[in-house]
Amino acid sequence: MAQNDPILKIKNLSVAYGQVKALTDISIEVLKGEIVVLVGANGAGKTSIMETVLGANVPVSGTIEFKGKSIGGVPVDKNVRNGMYLVPEGRGVFSSMTVMDNLLLGAHHNLKNADSKLELVFDSFPVLGNRKSQVAGTLSGGERQMLAIGRALMSSPEMILVDEPSIGLAPIIVNDIFEILVNLNKEGYSILLSEQNVYKALKIAHRGYILETGKMTKHGTADELLNDPAVREAYLGA
Ligand SMILES: Nc1ncnc2c1ncn2[C@@H]1O[C@H](COP(=O)(O)OP(=O)(O)OP(=O)(O)O)[C@@H](O)[C@H]1O
Ligand SMILES: [Mg+2]
Repeated sequence: MAQNDPILKIKNLSVAYGQVKALTDISIEVLKGEIVVLVGANGAGKTSIMETVLGANVPVSGTIEFKGKSIGGVPVDKNVRNGMYLVPEGRGVFSSMTVMDNLLLGAHHNLKNADSKLELVFDSFPVLGNRKSQVAGTLSGGERQMLAIGRALMSSPEMILVDEPSIGLAPIIVNDIFEILVNLNKEGYSILLSEQNVYKALKIAHRGYILETGKMTKHGTADELLNDPAVREAYLGA
């Protein structure tokens, strides 16, 4: 698969929870090697997009392709084995389990390569290596987010979906997390990121999509969005 091919292609996606329409006619692409950010307020539909891509929601209509193949109806575990991993909103680490056991969960479908992957994760996140026997509940918020990202890396993904990683973190720690995402992207991981921290997210992204109550209202390069007067007024306080 060449650079510039879409690794993820979402077309005309609509999702509902019973009578509640969460997404209407959403089309989004992530090209191989990109960081793409989904921008939107609470309830805009960011998590719904990610969970539907992962296979945890069944859409009302629309198509999703991953690496050029339709993944409609494909269950979560198969999508994970095929190279995508969701770092969920709220991090999703298991508080009573150790750092090590949380990491191993990310590799549960391929434990025989776990040791080499652990080494890679501990290289990227030395703090996790120093705390591998510590229960995750005693980690700081930033460390938990690193653990959630590290767990994703354990599954050898090609694309990582990262849902609001900055939530609840101090600005200086947010900078660390975003730097980690930039470095992972440089290593070749494609990233679909959702954020309400719009300025910082657009600063590290290649492109972005603006969502308002389940509809996509605008998309463009990160620079285009950062310079768009309506985006600036609505999301950047300028
Ligand atoms: N399991 C569910 N059952 C019913 N409605 C849901 C469910 N999950 C999400 N919704 C609704 O779908 C819409 C989109 O929610 P979603 O969680 O995708 O938004 P979000 O952009 O991730 O918001 P946040 O920034 O608060 O995480 C909202 O109106 C929400 O109330
Ligand atoms: Mg959400």
